Amino acid sequence: MSDDHYKKLAVLGHPIKQSKSPIIHKHWIEKYGVKGDYAAIDIPPAALEHEFGELIAAGYNGFNVTAPHKQDIMQYCDARDRDAYEIGAVNTLYFKGDKLWGSNTDSYGFIENLENSVKNFDWTKGPAVILGAGGAARAIAYALKQKSVPIVRICNRTIANASDIVADMGGYVMPWDQKEEALLDANLLINTTSLGMTGKAPLEINLDNLPQTATVYDIVYAPLITPLLEQAQARGNQTVTGIGMLLYQAQKAFEIWYGIKPDVDDDLIEKVLK
Ligand code: ATR
Repeated sequence: MSDDHYKKLAVLGHPIKQSKSPIIHKHWIEKYGVKGDYAAIDIPPAALEHEFGELIAAGYNGFNVTAPHKQDIMQYCDARDRDAYEIGAVNTLYFKGDKLWGSNTDSYGFIENLENSVKNFDWTKGPAVILGAGGAARAIAYALKQKSVPIVRICNRTIANASDIVADMGGYVMPWDQKEEALLDANLLINTTSLGMTGKAPLEINLDNLPQTATVYDIVYAPLITPLLEQAQARGNQTVTGIGMLLYQAQKAFEIWYGIKPDVDDDLIEKVLK
């Protein structure tokens, strides 16, 4: 069901100028001829309560929320849907009647991107290894649980952060210096750390133990082909880039607001990668 009403939408974060979300949603607003606008609003953590209240008073109809507000924003929601509840963080807000609901479309984005990149990917074929234990890793661990991945290993520098995710989602904690051992029978390797991103240190990992049949997924998308993905491609593993996770989490948010499931088309990918 599409919606004829004008929607005031925004992404809230700090910093926010790097966000690609306005490009994505404006592309779809134009493409589908729906009414609305999508702003990027910088809100420092200490100002969240006040500024969010002002935005609600100003008649905003929906929001995306990014770092560092994905958890703090939950206290202003009247309700959360199942994904937001299970992940313990909100990235999309919308109104149902006069009630403000929180959702989380990151796990959907993660799954759709992989399933659109690797045809007939079998989630249940073997273990998955997650590198990192931040917010993205938490949404991904939830996605892997939904997909009945048999074993999930979370390798992280700070053990306590991996343990927190495992306590909620299941799986096993592995120390960062044992990540190569974790690869032995893996079906899926996912980098959720910022290592390998432009301007950050490279992700140093030896892939010798990884089966050639495994898929390697990097959620970093600048550069699009990270050194990890280059290394994986060179030894014949299938790879998944990170840009699609961003695009598909946005697809679900747009669908929540407008009732239209927008296409992730090549024009959009080109705009976002520019
Ligand atoms: P997000 O919420 O976007 O996932 P984050 O919370 O900053 O981002 O998480 C980044 C992850 O990358 C964390 O797991 C972090 O490890 P710690 O939990 O030990 O902080 C990991 N990370 C960042 N820099 C790293 C480095 N130099 N070596 C190993 N892991 C690193």
